[in-house]
Amino acid sequence: MLRTSARRAALCLLVVVLLAAGHREPPRAAAVTLSTSSRWVVDPAGRRVKLACVNWPSHLEPVVTEGLGRQPVGAIAGMVVSLGFNCVRLTYPIALATNASLSSLTVRQSLLAHGLAETAGGVEVNNPGFLDLTLMDSLKAVVNALGEKDVLVILDNHVSKPGWCCGNDDGNGFFGDRDFDTDVWVDGLGNMATIFADVPNVVGMSLRNELRGPRQNPEDWYT
Ligand SMILES: *[C@@H]1O[C@H](CO)[C@@H](O)[C@H](O)[C@H]1NC(C)=O
Repeated sequence: MLRTSARRAALCLLVVVLLAAGHREPPRAAAVTLSTSSRWVVDPAGRRVKLACVNWPSHLEPVVTEGLGRQPVGAIAGMVVSLGFNCVRLTYPIALATNASLSSLTVRQSLLAHGLAETAGGVEVNNPGFLDLTLMDSLKAVVNALGEKDVLVILDNHVSKPGWCCGNDDGNGFFGDRDFDTDVWVDGLGNMATIFADVPNVVGMSLRNELRGPRQNPEDWYT
């Protein structure tokens, strides 16, 4: 479908823009309060800050930031910097912010519940301090590790129910879909904003990834 190809083209363009941004090696932005001046994002000194963000997923079934079983978190954060990025788009599912029985699971419990004993073993080797953190504290620790390398973070609500994104009929695609309760979504966004309000390297939130599915109404949006 044209719409699908257009979306693919847009995604490719985004990747190209991100890669181009990476190759220009944007200056590392210190963890500071940003504001806007006319059309620019600026730091407290009024200097323009360009965000070059790479995606890092934490929205899959175990709600554990991907890769923690492979490399120490500081090494991954360092790699983000060495690749020329100054920002991470860190994904999460709304359930992390609204379902206490999920957010209070430990990394170990969640990985084992999903049959990921090998990954739990990898976390024990590479990030032993994470294994018995709750899922919410684990996300905070990832944000802090990025902050230690002056990497900015945009918290990205990717889905409501933890899991791979995105299918057209996965129940997470559009307002009111099976797993996309809009009241719960707003609560979740508010909770995340509150939890991370005082974390200086969190500079923004993206409200929802990729609206989609049979109930979407692009004609109404003139897209
Ligand atoms: C909350 O999370 C728990 C643990 O993952 C899960 O079993 C339960 O179904 C979730 N509740 C809701 C309302 O999604």
